[in-house]
Amino acid sequence: MANFTFQPTLIDYTQQRSAGLYKRFFAWMMAQNVPQYEAFMEPHKRSLFSQLHGTVLEIGPGAGVNLPFYPADIHWIGIEPNPHMAPYLEQKAAGLAFQLELRIGTAEQLPVADASVDAVVSTLVLCSVEDVAATLQEVLRVLKPGGRFYFIEHVAAPQQTRLRTAQDWLSPVSQALGDGCRPNRETWTLLEQAGFERVEYDRLQAPMPLPLASPHIIGIAQKAA
Ligand SMILES: C[S@@+](CC[C@H](N)C(=O)[O-])C[C@H]1O[C@@H](n2cnc3c(N)ncnc32)[C@H](O)[C@@H]1O
Repeated sequence: MANFTFQPTLIDYTQQRSAGLYKRFFAWMMAQNVPQYEAFMEPHKRSLFSQLHGTVLEIGPGAGVNLPFYPADIHWIGIEPNPHMAPYLEQKAAGLAFQLELRIGTAEQLPVADASVDAVVSTLVLCSVEDVAATLQEVLRVLKPGGRFYFIEHVAAPQQTRLRTAQDWLSPVSQALGDGCRPNRETWTLLEQAGFERVEYDRLQAPMPLPLASPHIIGIAQKAA
């Protein structure tokens, strides 16, 4: 039996030809390897994701770069707005032992029942969602009591640094060319204000092709039990 199911698209980008082509190109881009970054992240992902169990919801899974790091006994649900990611995700799913279910939707309005998942995963997504605060409220809604949000995100550099000035200036360009990505988001503040019982994270500098996206946070936020 196939381990990958894909709900028919609810967002039809092909209605807008340029958006369709752009989204298709972005999906292809996400499927390309960035070896230096991936090698750097591998031990972090192995250690963070080894703790996962039960039903795991991944928001914005893109082309499926995280799939190889998941334990074999989970049930994976992916919520992705770009339907062109589906073929890449399906390829990555081949050979994995766990069940994967891809649904088209956004993190701001998760098509998932209240208190139904054990964990939510997000890597390099909170820079791109329209509304981070709404996304985090949705994450809290769908998590079971005591459930955890695992995140690896690129974030704003400290204020009054050259890198932060560059992030602020270039954010509109990055948003236009990088599928909505804002490099100057102080995501940790929004995580701390969202209403999780506990938020723990480390900061690190990742070897990104563009230094604008080097500052990262990696951590876990836990919903009250
Ligand atoms: C930079 S890519 C990261 C993909 C993957 N998580 C990774 O680590 O390579 C950002 C992803 O977030 C998705 N995305 C953008 N806006 C979103 C939203 N509002 N809700 C959920 N996913 C979103 C994009 O389609 C894309 O797959």
